[in-house]
Amino acid sequence: MSFKIAIDGPSSSGKSTLAKMIAKNLGFVYIDTGAMYRAMGYYFLKNNLDLNDIEIVNNNVNNVDVELNYVDGVLQVLLNGEDISGVIRKEEVGSAGSIISTYKLVRERLVSLQQKMASVCDVVMDGRDIGTVVLPDANVKIYLNADCHERAVRRHKELLEKGIDKSLEEVETDLKERDYRDMNRENSPLRKANDAIEIDSTNMEIEEVVEMVLSIVKEKRGDK
Ligand code: DC
Repeated sequence: MSFKIAIDGPSSSGKSTLAKMIAKNLGFVYIDTGAMYRAMGYYFLKNNLDLNDIEIVNNNVNNVDVELNYVDGVLQVLLNGEDISGVIRKEEVGSAGSIISTYKLVRERLVSLQQKMASVCDVVMDGRDIGTVVLPDANVKIYLNADCHERAVRRHKELLEKGIDKSLEEVETDLKERDYRDMNRENSPLRKANDAIEIDSTNMEIEEVVEMVLSIVKEKRGDK
């Protein structure tokens, strides 16, 4: 049986950094489910299809094939065979991912791909519904949270490093909008699974969070 670690939490709480570091340390495969929703959203943007029209979305879901590959340890995201790893990190693609993720058919398609990936190897998977829907039987479930202002400060810094000059206020407003949509949608809203361990990283360095999660995993596995 493969060992599964589920990490959920709001945008910019540090989930992907944590998941990557944990996967590297344990030699597990990291599955970035947000990248899959971003890829799905990008398909609609690229083809000028209205993301807000449920009929258009439902008629197109099955034309979208999303694949995650690792090339020399680096995640590659393929949309119908095309490498879109760079473009999906743009802010507008993140928002498209958030909108597209509200649809039932979209979620069903991506969840089944995610479950298939997790069935064959030890994984660390991050997202919004991993502990609640995708891997309800995960061996370890973490809900990583942080204060909204602190998450906006972190995101703002990341954007500046990428040369994107957006005000902190604008970043915080966008983040609040994304949180609201992710937490209040009808289908698989973001929430902490009953058996998840919540970590508030507001005043923690990422290394401390990694240490904490590694010790939880080691205890679960019965490592010496
Ligand atoms: O984690 P991220 O910002 O890359 O995710 C992009 C959007 O995808 C996010 O706003 C919500 C959605 N998402 C989801 O609904 N379920 C997941 N398991 C992962 C992401």
